[in-house]
Amino acid sequence: MKRTSVIRNSCAFSAIAAVIVWSCNTATNAREQAPVPAAPAAVLLHVDTTAIPDDKYGEAVRYGRALMLNTAYYIGPDGTSGKYLGNRMNCTNCHQDAGTKPFSFNLMLSHENYPQYRAREGQVLTLAERVNNCVTRPHNGRPLPLNSKEMVAFLAYFRWINSFVPKTQPHKGSKNLPVTFPDIAASPVRGEALYQQHCARCHGNSGEGQLRPDNITYTYPPLWGKYGYQPGSSMHRIIKQAQWLKANMPYDKATWNRPFLSDAEAMDIAAFVNDDSRHPRPDIKNYDYPHPAEKAIDYDKGPYADTFPATQHKYGPYLPITDYYEKRGMKASY
Ligand code: HEC
Ligand code: HEC
Repeated sequence: MKRTSVIRNSCAFSAIAAVIVWSCNTATNAREQAPVPAAPAAVLLHVDTTAIPDDKYGEAVRYGRALMLNTAYYIGPDGTSGKYLGNRMNCTNCHQDAGTKPFSFNLMLSHENYPQYRAREGQVLTLAERVNNCVTRPHNGRPLPLNSKEMVAFLAYFRWINSFVPKTQPHKGSKNLPVTFPDIAASPVRGEALYQQHCARCHGNSGEGQLRPDNITYTYPPLWGKYGYQPGSSMHRIIKQAQWLKANMPYDKATWNRPFLSDAEAMDIAAFVNDDSRHPRPDIKNYDYPHPAEKAIDYDKGPYADTFPATQHKYGPYLPITDYYEKRGMKASY
């Protein structure tokens, strides 16, 4: 069955220039609808990689895209362009389709969103510095020089994909899929059973993933252990990971418009994957967030600007925490 045909309500794709418009009519009878002015439909973006220009800029864009897809080959532990990463994962393992897939830590807006204030550093960062955050963790590496061919290529690529974002219309999938917080804490124990059922066949019983036969990178990337992402990277946060799992995993079953896991299941699995007592990771030296009130509520290292223990920040229940922030007029970020 085609993916578009199983969606509730009547929905239709129509291609307009480089943009695909996703329009849904949820009413059974259009005449019953109140005559409110229609909000512009959110569009699904399509990046046409055959349109990368054939000039020096295009060369940088093309290399940037190659770096997103084959990061370990170029800048991994045995990288042909320099040894920067501490592990063999690729950017696209999390920013799928080289950062263009909706609801997969999508990077279509990054070019226009930086420089930006970042709570983790308590500073305004450039996009290049933000790229290096992911190079240093989750990739456990050392930062790329800001004027390196590789950094310039990443930035050229982000600028180029951003040119597909329409200026006057909203689009889908640059933010994460929201998850509804259950009343109870996420449980690594329930998560373990779900992991065995839905994840282990690709990522392995010990979360080690599966290396490609050439050993350069993975067919299935690792989820924990020496070669997985580090604590202090956003994937290590349970809400953040659950949002991503809901739209993207299991790889062969979930799509953003037809998630496979329920919100509670995604949180339980994320709790199991991120249970450091059973799944140690390479440690990091500093735990960031100079201003505790700006700390993401699912960050598992104190100090916090509230009275909740670190275990509740990590596993929930999160609703008492968001209520606490709301009552004091503070912003709960996650
Ligand atoms: C283990 C998963 C993972 C890998 C691998 C990864 N990232 Fe990220 N990256 C994230 C997460 C999580 C975020 C934050 C997303 C959010 O807050 O919703 C992020 C954010 C970013 C951002 C900021 C986006 C924005 O608009 O604010 C950039 C740029 C970025 N990553 C680039 C890279 C690059 C380049 C690589 C490869 C060198 C990479 N990432 C590898 C997980 C990953
Ligand atoms: C059919 C195989 C398959 C299954 C089943 C599967 N994954 Fe994945 N997973 C992948 C692949 C492939 C990628 C890398 C995606 C890419 O590069 O585009 C990935 C990436 C990931 C990542 C981000 C990269 C990293 O290693 O940190 C996480 C986290 C993840 N999967 C968790 C899960 C969880 C949890 C489940 C079970 C709910 C699951 N996966 C089920 C194939 C699978």
